[in-house]
Amino acid sequence: MELIFATHNQGKVREIQNLVGEKIKILSLTDVGFLEEIPETGSTFKENAFLKANAIYQIYKKPVFADDSGLEVDALNGRPGVYSARYAGIGLKNFEPHINKLLNELNGIEDRSARFRTVICLIINDEIYYFEGVVNGKIIHHPRGNNGFGYDPIFVPDGYDKTFAEMNLDEKNTISHRSQAINKMLEFLMSEYNKLIEKGA
Ligand code: IMP
Repeated sequence: MELIFATHNQGKVREIQNLVGEKIKILSLTDVGFLEEIPETGSTFKENAFLKANAIYQIYKKPVFADDSGLEVDALNGRPGVYSARYAGIGLKNFEPHINKLLNELNGIEDRSARFRTVICLIINDEIYYFEGVVNGKIIHHPRGNNGFGYDPIFVPDGYDKTFAEMNLDEKNTISHRSQAINKMLEFLMSEYNKLIEKGA
């Protein structure tokens, strides 16, 4: 079976291809010749994941999934949420301004609880499925660690004393929101594989 991942991020594609093995061939948007960006105009991760998956499904009519993730901070009513990648502005060269904006907003606030969330939307044989992963934790006061990306240096998952940026990728992957959502989708695909193929996937 071929499965399109509605992303231009080859790193994400390689990561998931490694997890699924040879039974399913993961194709990126570049692989299928789709070179545009799909606007993420939704107000929830679920809406954005659907928008991306559906835009591609309508064109190619092939099994496709899309993911959307971000950081939700309780004291900020769930912000930055769907705006995580563009919190301090669009197209910034490095991530520091986003982290600084968040830390400034939390200045003097005691409740530091937050979570990373990923929602995946899978469309296959005209059916829509959603898979979610959540990791709860706390926002610390000063960034720590050089691994990972985004808000990793200021996020310590519950039950750990290291930030995501102080963990290696394997360690982060055992608990991360993204790997939880991906694993749920993979379990579904593997358990339904024969039925999906029979129905035309
Ligand atoms: P995406 O939907 O996976 O591209 O994630 C959108 C944005 O959420 C990223 O640009 C990051 O700012 C933030 N984000 C998502 N996942 C993570 C993570 O694992 N660590 C740090 N930041 C993340």
